[in-house]
Amino acid sequence: MRILRKATIAGMGKYLPEKEMTNKDLEKIVDTNDEWIKSRTGIEKRRIAADDVPSSELGLKAAKEALKNAELDAEDLDLVLVATVTPDMPFPATACIIQEKLGANKAAAFDLEAGCSGFVYGISVASQFIETGMYDNILVIGTETLSKIVNWEDRTTCVLFGDGAGAAVLKPTEKGGILASHLGSDGSGEDALYVPAGGSQKPATEETVKNNEHYLVMEGNRVFKFAVKTMSKASLKVLKQAGLKKEDIDLLIPHQANTRIIDSSAKRLKLESDKVYVNLPEYGNTSGASVPIALAEAAEKGLIKNGDIVLLVAFGAGLTWASAVMEWNDLKG
Ligand code: ACO
Repeated sequence: MRILRKATIAGMGKYLPEKEMTNKDLEKIVDTNDEWIKSRTGIEKRRIAADDVPSSELGLKAAKEALKNAELDAEDLDLVLVATVTPDMPFPATACIIQEKLGANKAAAFDLEAGCSGFVYGISVASQFIETGMYDNILVIGTETLSKIVNWEDRTTCVLFGDGAGAAVLKPTEKGGILASHLGSDGSGEDALYVPAGGSQKPATEETVKNNEHYLVMEGNRVFKFAVKTMSKASLKVLKQAGLKKEDIDLLIPHQANTRIIDSSAKRLKLESDKVYVNLPEYGNTSGASVPIALAEAAEKGLIKNGDIVLLVAFGAGLTWASAVMEWNDLKG
């Protein structure tokens, strides 16, 4: 099939809850310390949503900012796509909740679950709709309230995650835009990172609650090794698909999970630190929200200009991975 048009990001938005939790704060909750967290992960603090604030609320705020930056009205959206591992409810889709609150009256809406790779999966899915001509205006949101599914008594996981949301408005373009994307999965790693109960395999019972089975469980080392291997492979693969080389990259936006993982990816791609965007110390791992928050922040700081080659790469529960490379074109100027 000959592709006549591509999708491009016309506007980004982000939202982080106000409440900050520092590593020092965590020292009061679990047996940990600032030095361990910083040296093993790079994280210094994270944001935490209020008890009565669901993922849709964070996503809605990020979405409004993205629409404003893209100069698009919600009524003109054709699709709202939400990537999240912390939906408001098992169903309906968080995308439908946001669609209604935004007043995106003619938009279809669905959620996409691909762990921390969800937003990059979403960018790829949205691009296909635009390239085929089925839709013109798509909102892709990554929104998470991980604080609600971590076990605050488990020091091996609770120090890693944070809450937040990022959003992108995608529109058609005849110049630049999303040049290629690559998605992958390895379901043999389904037990490396998961929530044991609350689904159809193990519905909620008094027992599952008592055994803390509704909280996230992770084999950190296993995910770490997978991430190091996958991030650079997925990056090289998508560059090749787009006919680009490592040297063409102007900015890498990696999933923000661990600075050691990011550094190893950057090294394999031979990128200096000024070409790698990192905000992990500020926000921790916000799962499906981490890439769009980082991209929105980089754009806001003026670190990306039209014509720049931007590479997104992520890994996550599933296990999954995803990468996308774009020639930045916000359709302005
Ligand atoms: N504070 C102090 N000590 C700790 C803490 C803590 N918060 N957590 C673990 N430790 C201890 C362990 O108990 C262990 O002690 P021991 O040697 O006496 O048994 C020691 O520190 C080393 O533990 P490791 O797990 O081997 O530490 P590691 O260097 O592997 O770092 C980490 C752990 C940070 C989790 C790392 O493996 C990692 O980043 N993995 C990737 C995780 C990730 O990216 N997950 C996100 C996936 S995306 C998604 O879809 C949500």
